[in-house]
Amino acid sequence: MEQSSNPDNFFALHPTIFVILGITGDLASRKLLPALLYLYSKKMLPQRFAIVGFSRRSFSREEFRELIRSKLNIKPGDFKEEDIKHFIDHISYEQGMFDDVSAYARLKIRLTAIDDRWGQCTNKLFHLSVPPKLYEGILTNIHKSDLAEVCGDGIGWTRILIEKPFGNDIETARALDKLLAKLFNEDQIFRIDHYLAKEAMQNILAFRFANSMFEPIWCSEFVDKIHIKLYEKIGVEGRGAFYDPIGALKDMGQSHMMQILALIAMDKPKSFSPEDIRRERARILNKLESISPRQMAKQVVRGQYEGYRNEPGVASQSVTETYFRIQARINVDRWKDVPIYLENGKALSETKTEIDIYFKGENLDKQNIITFRIQPDEGIKIRFFVKTPGYEFKTEPKILKFKYSDSPSLSALPNDYERLIHDAFVGDQTLFASTDEIMASWKFVTPILTSLDKTPLITYKKGTEEVG
Ligand code: BG6
Repeated sequence: MEQSSNPDNFFALHPTIFVILGITGDLASRKLLPALLYLYSKKMLPQRFAIVGFSRRSFSREEFRELIRSKLNIKPGDFKEEDIKHFIDHISYEQGMFDDVSAYARLKIRLTAIDDRWGQCTNKLFHLSVPPKLYEGILTNIHKSDLAEVCGDGIGWTRILIEKPFGNDIETARALDKLLAKLFNEDQIFRIDHYLAKEAMQNILAFRFANSMFEPIWCSEFVDKIHIKLYEKIGVEGRGAFYDPIGALKDMGQSHMMQILALIAMDKPKSFSPEDIRRERARILNKLESISPRQMAKQVVRGQYEGYRNEPGVASQSVTETYFRIQARINVDRWKDVPIYLENGKALSETKTEIDIYFKGENLDKQNIITFRIQPDEGIKIRFFVKTPGYEFKTEPKILKFKYSDSPSLSALPNDYERLIHDAFVGDQTLFASTDEIMASWKFVTPILTSLDKTPLITYKKGTEEVG
């Protein structure tokens, strides 16, 4: 951790090659390359680094550079054109089909040539920026071509970064895990759930465990209910072909929602080491009470926004959910009988990620509420009561508020992908999902998915405030 917070140390890191499989895709231009560019401009990449892209399409060197430049999702004015050019100078390209093993042999030659040029055995980071259905083939080919081999007697490491969804259900997740374990050690595998890297998500643990006044009341004796809201105003916006076979529950429920829940509900870890934190996150997720087909209609609401079926790439009779609300429970003393509402939807009235912890009160109007705002307007709010001035003893609610944006020294929040790439470089897995967490969340989500048809599909209007 020490080293990662010191850019000068970071700059002195061992030479590293960042390989992006699927560099011409949306994720690379929207998230990865901008994050790398920001890290580069802050001198937070190793002094010697290269980015090697691998994709199906064929380009001349100039066409490739132009494509990368035109697609880079960066704020106008954040960089000088010259700096962007220098950054792009670090990127080269290898064309190849993902299922063609000989293309990986060419990729290996390219990587070795960089090692030879630098006279060093470099670190290698592989990012799978491709649809998950391609993972198996790519991983197998990486293995067959010895790309995952560590060179120079362990001087340079090899790591792999993969994106959710990890599998399609518990069985496929296990199969993917088995394949990964065949090729890599656990400490080489970085499973990205970008919500974990959001600054305000990390603040949940700080708030809970750095303030001794909250932990004693973080339990069923005091908490009435918890409501996690992951609302998006946008619909599928051109991602219909990706989204339709998946749906909200797999897209956000199995991953981001479960990670938020883990941070809110987990016990205090023995230490703040990556192992201890990840162990506690997995432990609490493993205790989620499974929802049987009989309970579905009572505990699960699913919906689809009007007009979804006309989105490009969506089947005309699609029954894919773009919204869900689950009433979950966790089978541990701490959370005995506390309902936890997990709600996510697209095309709702606003975009916000928020967690409300409701504390028991005389009645609903008298409840204290702690709200974590993950985005936008990151911060924390506490609803409490004061006496209304006057001769009677009456109270009224007021809000205590902390907003990152109110505090100049805190307002520059690091971008989630910047943080993830940074941590992958330094080998810190705290903000990455462990295989145990993923299995635990599939264990909860898979039975719901299999009996989703036991609960009616509600059609809701775009921009609605409340579904069902
Ligand atoms: C992705 C989902 O993981 O997260 C998208 O696939 C969703 O459907 C996105 O829009 C939301 O991420 P963020 O960081 O914009 O809240």
